[in-house]
Amino acid sequence: MKVVHASAPGKCILFGEHAVVYGYPAIAMAISLKSTCIIEELNESKIELVLKNFNQNYEFKDLNEFFINFPSKFDQIKHLFKIIHERFNTKINKIKLTLSSTLFPSSGLGSSASISVALVMAFSVYYNLNLEKSEISKIAYELEKIVHGTPSGIDNSICTFGNVIFFQEGKFHFIEVSEDFRILVTYTNMDHNTKLAIEQLRDFKKEEKKFCDFVFDRIGFYTEIAESELTTGDLNEIGNLMNINQKLLAALNLSNNTINEIVNTAIENGAYGSKLTGAGLGGCVISIGKEDVLEEISQILNSKGYKSFIANIDKEGVKIE
Ligand code: PMV
Repeated sequence: MKVVHASAPGKCILFGEHAVVYGYPAIAMAISLKSTCIIEELNESKIELVLKNFNQNYEFKDLNEFFINFPSKFDQIKHLFKIIHERFNTKINKIKLTLSSTLFPSSGLGSSASISVALVMAFSVYYNLNLEKSEISKIAYELEKIVHGTPSGIDNSICTFGNVIFFQEGKFHFIEVSEDFRILVTYTNMDHNTKLAIEQLRDFKKEEKKFCDFVFDRIGFYTEIAESELTTGDLNEIGNLMNINQKLLAALNLSNNTINEIVNTAIENGAYGSKLTGAGLGGCVISIGKEDVLEEISQILNSKGYKSFIANIDKEGVKIE
């Protein structure tokens, strides 16, 4: 019986979130936590779905019943089935699909993009569609639109290609960053809603267009400087740039007390820099510094009730296990 096991990494945005939605550059790093999608062939005519993180199992007698009864909160998966069925003329049947992720959901670590990318890769291989990575990323982008409304495309790109990328207006190039580059990722214990954060900022921009354009412009400027500092590996300077980026995001009302507490704790205990990552208003905070210092900060944050881990760069992107 045929089995395909695909995985895709999560990500952190190091610089430039939100401004990237308006055409400014951003830098993202793929991290070693993953989402996985397993498709197994079944003997019987049915479609089974196991969504491990939601603790939910579904079974449908055929694709029709799947389209009618699969809950709309999983529209991302539904839409992919539609694409595979209609665009690639493929009859989906006799499969068990198991999805799981080690990424905190709705936390800015790209869990939805990483799930989309792993799903597309698994279908591509299972049904011999031979999709290139660029096509996988494009389809995952279509799925991301369902979840996020107007995503920039950075999440699907980084989860597909891995490494560290400099992204702007749908195009990207890799940044060569030292193998031992590490960041501390801390969860605020607050889910965030990327779509709502983007809409909140869009409304603010309608009221304060000049101010927001000015802040986006500054974020773009420092993101460009960050690219060269990442290449040279000057952690101190990268940290300074992160602190500036955090202040600019806070000026756009995307920070909150919890994010500020984590950022301040990290800086007071020796981090070179710290900022929210992704949509903000919850989610995760990233901090940079010497590895032993990051480990100490992690323990301090843990004692304050915040889970954190040290992430390194995923170099492979989406792959078949
Ligand atoms: O997916 P998140 O929550 O990490 O945030 C995405 C980053 C944004 O810049 C806010 C949106 C986007 O599509 O780039």
